[in-house]
Amino acid sequence: MSIPDRFIDELTAKCDIVDIISRYVALKKSGGNFFGLCPFHSEKTPSFSVSPDKQIYHCFGCSKGGGVINFIMNIENLDFPESVRFLAKILNMEVPEDGKTGGDSSKKERLYAASTEAARYFHAKLFSDEGKEALSYLERRALSKRTIRNFGLGYAPDAWDGLIKELMEKGFTKNELLDAGLVVKNSKGSIYDRFRNRAMFPIIDLRGNVIGFGGRVLDQSLPKYLNSPDTPIFNKSRNLFAINIAKNVKSRTILLAEGYMDVIALHQAGFTNAVASLGTSLTEDQARLISRYADEAVISYDADEAGRKAAARAINILKKTGLNVKILRIPGAKDPDEFIKSNGADAFLNLLSRSENHIEYRLCDLRAKYNLGLDEDRVSYLKAAAKLLSTVESPVEREIYASRVAEEAKITLSGMLNEIKKEYSLFEKKKKREEKREILSPASAIQPKTREFRYGNVHSAAAEEGIISLCFYDPTLIPDILSRISSAEFSSRLLGKVLDIAAERYKDERPVTLPSVSDSLSEAEISHISKVISKPVKGSDIKKAMSDYISIIKLQSLKGENLDEESLLLAQSKYREIKGFGGNKV
Ligand code: GTP
Ligand code: MN
Repeated sequence: MSIPDRFIDELTAKCDIVDIISRYVALKKSGGNFFGLCPFHSEKTPSFSVSPDKQIYHCFGCSKGGGVINFIMNIENLDFPESVRFLAKILNMEVPEDGKTGGDSSKKERLYAASTEAARYFHAKLFSDEGKEALSYLERRALSKRTIRNFGLGYAPDAWDGLIKELMEKGFTKNELLDAGLVVKNSKGSIYDRFRNRAMFPIIDLRGNVIGFGGRVLDQSLPKYLNSPDTPIFNKSRNLFAINIAKNVKSRTILLAEGYMDVIALHQAGFTNAVASLGTSLTEDQARLISRYADEAVISYDADEAGRKAAARAINILKKTGLNVKILRIPGAKDPDEFIKSNGADAFLNLLSRSENHIEYRLCDLRAKYNLGLDEDRVSYLKAAAKLLSTVESPVEREIYASRVAEEAKITLSGMLNEIKKEYSLFEKKKKREEKREILSPASAIQPKTREFRYGNVHSAAAEEGIISLCFYDPTLIPDILSRISSAEFSSRLLGKVLDIAAERYKDERPVTLPSVSDSLSEAEISHISKVISKPVKGSDIKKAMSDYISIIKLQSLKGENLDEESLLLAQSKYREIKGFGGNKV
């Protein structure tokens, strides 16, 4: 690691986790802690907590947790040293480097640099002799020079090593080119350019780095598009094409299209809030990214069957993040690009103003599946519609749609409302069950996510967790603890490791806080430990609690009783039975 530990201590001491997290999550104080909606999973009731005393966050819903550095790693998609630098910038601290090169972040910097150089190269080629055909292709598709420059579009020449030569001359190594996904290795071990004879679309992240490319053929050959593979700097499921531009738009609406060309045509027509997923269907991460910059998403997918199916899927994913979702129907054209080309920007604006909210859209979709002239079909339609309407939160809205459906299915409005009510109570029951599951206390329910930390002995582990919380609660207890017990007597490898780290830090007179120890732990380990120490330290007599924990651990380690996972799960389901929790999957 090229950043000195002392600096990291200093940084975490200066940083207030509540301040930092407030930049991303609206937090409300409740007791000693702050609560908000978890930015790492979709939820409607806050289960994300931040403790100013312990300087940690923890989500009781998805189990993510950790200190401030780990929070930045997760939310900004950065690695450890990058996150430290990111925070240092906010705090106006200068990061001392110890001169050693290497480490992950400088490697990533090289990949960003290689990708940026590649984009420059492709862009220059587009305006060279070799690029004539590509340029005229883009112009035939009605893209202006300005748009082409704006998006940094380019051309990858029809050669096996054009880019390789260019980048090696600039000092990049073969391995760097491979790691950046710019070249491919053949079976003999030699490398060649991944993109050949294609129009190139650079993909740029939120911070303005080129992270990958999409490349389109200039004719009918296949595959139509070739995308960069996932690399250390490019994660298809967490990025969106043109988000680097759309994030700056003032309106709190984002237009979600299917393809690169749609997005570019939309931007050219003035809709600079358009983005697209990168050749895969929309993911939850992408939806959350949108929800950081918008309150409303308008889906503008292709008009064909595939586009409709993809839209139906995207509605659910976007809704989950709390976004208001609308859907655009594109009459008489296959996609937004084509529509704008034949009808102009004003016509598209007109379409936008008539975009339907997702309930209308889904009712319409549903209706098309049934023949409302048949009694049976009418009943099936009514049932399906009731299920859909039971998810509408506003009673006024619910009634409006209900009366429409009632009319179509030829039943009374009150009959329809009754049907919705039935569906609603089923829905509520299911929701309650899920909520109850979240309340299960961490120690008694070892959830699948953390099952990798399978404890050898549950009784002992609960006491070990107690010891670990005490170490973080009051590090001056550490010498006393160590004089009576050692990590070797712990049944859990992870908890033992954390005890050792805490002891080591205490000995070195360094702070013992989760943020400051997190560089020695994996992401999942940090989450788990944050859960352990986010539980309040119980009882007024800390010393007594400590002694009790120690005797339990000693006793259990003597017994040598090792529960395997199966009996653990059994114990867990027993627990639920006793407590009256339904279901057995977590
Ligand atoms: P044009 O045909 O040039 O108008 O492109 P488009 O952007 O409208 O493409 P289309 O609607 O066919 O596909 C939508 C998106 O899916 C594209 O922008 C690509 O991201 C992706 N895609 C399309 N074809 C392929 C393919 O053959 N391979 C991969 N990996 N992705 C593709
Ligand atoms: Mn198209």
